[in-house]
Amino acid sequence: MEKLKHIISTRQFTDPEFLQGLFESANRMERDDVFRALTSPLRGRILATLFFEPSTRTRFSFEAAMQKLGGGVLTAENARANSSATKGETISDTIRVVSEYANVIAIRHYQEGAAEEAARNSPVPIINAGDGSGEHPTQALADIYTIKKEIGWLTGLRVTLVGDLLYGRTIHSLLPLLCLYSGVTIDLISPPQLRLPQRYREYLTEKGIPFHEGERLEGVIEQADVAYITRVQGERFASREEYNAVKDVYVIDAKLADKMKPEAIIMHALPRVNEISPEVDGNSRAAYFRQAKNGLYIRMALLKYLLA
Ligand code: NCD
Repeated sequence: MEKLKHIISTRQFTDPEFLQGLFESANRMERDDVFRALTSPLRGRILATLFFEPSTRTRFSFEAAMQKLGGGVLTAENARANSSATKGETISDTIRVVSEYANVIAIRHYQEGAAEEAARNSPVPIINAGDGSGEHPTQALADIYTIKKEIGWLTGLRVTLVGDLLYGRTIHSLLPLLCLYSGVTIDLISPPQLRLPQRYREYLTEKGIPFHEGERLEGVIEQADVAYITRVQGERFASREEYNAVKDVYVIDAKLADKMKPEAIIMHALPRVNEISPEVDGNSRAAYFRQAKNGLYIRMALLKYLLA
């Protein structure tokens, strides 16, 4: 795989060996962090986080990652209101200017394709930190790393993806990564209105990945090695009524969690609303807070890859 300049889509990752290298780098980051042995390979370099949509984990973990590597951070946490975008500046002009101050830019935007547009005009690496209901590649890297860490391997897994498969960008980014591993089977569980878009179903078919679509979690979750639950993306709906009709269709409670295989894991990119009851948090299968922590180390590995 050729060296990537920008991280826009997980379709750019075509080599499982590359991912394995990234996982090993993330493991080293974690070990060095725990033993306070981190050096500062990115000293003097600056990350700009340009966020046009809300975020907790993604922005904080990017900024923590950069600082732990010795770099600095410029942040626009509410760029929609507080950057010159409100005055009508285009993404490409903003990027052109910010790239004079920063060595790498992580951008989150409400429009699908915004990160790609930014990359077209950027002399510095652009990282897509979520583009509308498009993609969220660094979350998917944290997710695949979490599956590897928790289960031990990535081949032959049965993965159940649950909830908002239409607007859920973390799912759109995770699928191409899952497709890199042999023997993976996917169950897509959603209400009919929130079905996975056709282009992703076509992608699975093209890659020869067997998948099944359904509405009911019961009878499916029992077979899963990984159950990945998503928040229904309320902000993407045309009306409140449409959102209310589907917002609480799937709830993982203690009873359902206990029907899963003992070694299976429950994932969620967070924030959760009602999709996973807090009573599940103590279940050994609950991997979502560890998943959030893994996001820090995978982003450290990624920043080092892009900049060092
Ligand atoms: C996700 C996102 O923003 O797409 N959160 C995250 O980055 N961890 C998922 C979501 O908001 O539902």
